[in-house]
Amino acid sequence: MLKKKYTCVKVDQQKDGITWVIFNRPEKRNAMSPTFHAEMMEIMTLLESDNDTKLVILTGEGVSYSAGQDLKEYFRETDGKPEVKAKASNDSKWRSEKLWMYNKPTISMVNGFCIGGAFTHCICADFSIAADDAIFCLSEVNWGILPGGMVSKMVTDMFSQRDAMFYACTGRTFTGKDAARIGMVNYSVPKKNLKKETLKLAKELLEKNPNVLRATKHAIRAVQNMSWRSAADYLNAKGAEIKIRDAARGHDAYAEGIKQFIDEKAYRPVFSPYVGAADGKTTAKGGKARASAARKPQKAAAAASSSTKTIKAPAMAAAAKKAAVKKAPAKKAAAKKPAVKKAPAKKPAAKKPVAKKAAAKKPAAKAAAAKKAVVKKAPAAKKAAAKKPAAKKAAAKKPAAKKAAAKKPVAKKAAAKKPVAKKAVAKKPAAKKSAAKKK
Ligand code: COA
Repeated sequence: MLKKKYTCVKVDQQKDGITWVIFNRPEKRNAMSPTFHAEMMEIMTLLESDNDTKLVILTGEGVSYSAGQDLKEYFRETDGKPEVKAKASNDSKWRSEKLWMYNKPTISMVNGFCIGGAFTHCICADFSIAADDAIFCLSEVNWGILPGGMVSKMVTDMFSQRDAMFYACTGRTFTGKDAARIGMVNYSVPKKNLKKETLKLAKELLEKNPNVLRATKHAIRAVQNMSWRSAADYLNAKGAEIKIRDAARGHDAYAEGIKQFIDEKAYRPVFSPYVGAADGKTTAKGGKARASAARKPQKAAAAASSSTKTIKAPAMAAAAKKAAVKKAPAKKAAAKKPAVKKAPAKKPAAKKPVAKKAAAKKPAAKAAAAKKAVVKKAPAAKKAAAKKPAAKKAAAKKPAAKKAAAKKPVAKKAAAKKPVAKKAVAKKPAAKKSAAKKK
């Protein structure tokens, strides 16, 4: 717990492990002076090893997130003072070098003006959420410098070339909504929901195994500029690091995650982390069932339409609840019997993405598929496809995995560029098998 008080920054540590770091020069629109940087460097360094801090949220007091470097104190007053300038520049690296590979998750919550040098800590935080009406601007071109301190590099890496050139050269403002569209922030929300949405993301992250999360975020950063071969080695090493870090708390995420899914049916990895991921307590040792294990089902449609929601099919939620109550014998029996026989009518459809899609679009087909799934073992997809020639055609032509890849340009692109990934997709036995059945 940080006890010290700072002049330019407020630190607000919550009991749940979330620490708010609030830029606190509202009268100067949170412009970053040398003192501000020195304080931020100290704070971020201390929080990185502070046991009470599991995640950091950066935001600004007042109408501004940050108006960038302080033109008076950071620039003009350090001119002709190389040592002072060098120290200020060094301290300002809390935004770039420190944040980029920070050991704990970070979120920038852009509440208002985000100008020039403030792009750095907006971009280098792991996640960023903006108010719809926040104002972003690369103002440098308007007052006499280029976007330095790596801002030009960052926007070139993050934006399209067109957007980077446009906003750097015109100095035009853009809103939080625009920032989401061009990929500068994860998403934007109405200002009244900003804190709530930011906390929602923070809490979701806190449910993960912190060692897995740490290695994952490091990996996503580090592999960006690596060769294929180096990335493979780095990822292997990082995987081993998870085991070492987990072992230090008497835990093994990998073994636990598989055990809880395959043997204990305690959760489904698609919808939530395993029980006790955050605190490293295993179910066998009496770890408490996580709230998400019994989370109320969300409507599939609503979940699919929102990138911020956890998708959870009704059948999954029911299973998760069941697992939380730990009815071992019943679960075991369920595991042995084919899902088609035991599950409610909708379950087979839920397990077959192609069928599910067809059924979702055609209520009549859905009902028919559901009925038949109860009576016979025949896959719902086949039945639905038989009734609807269009669906059949689609199912026959496209194995589910292929279809998904075709719909997702990013995945497709990655698969096309990386021979190994492509091979993996092509070899997916489950997808092939189901396609073969459907044929
Ligand atoms: N450096 C130093 N002081 C700054 C500052 C900055 N980057 N941004 C704002 N301030 C100061 C102003 O000088 C003013 O101080 P004063 O009250 O002592 O005169 C105070 O903050 C309020 O600024 P003001 O312009 O009156 O507020 P506003 O709400 O009308 O406008 C901005 C806010 C951010 C649009 C405007 O202040 C601005 O354009 N700032 C410059 C941002 C910039 O170019 N940053 C450089 C990034 S590298």
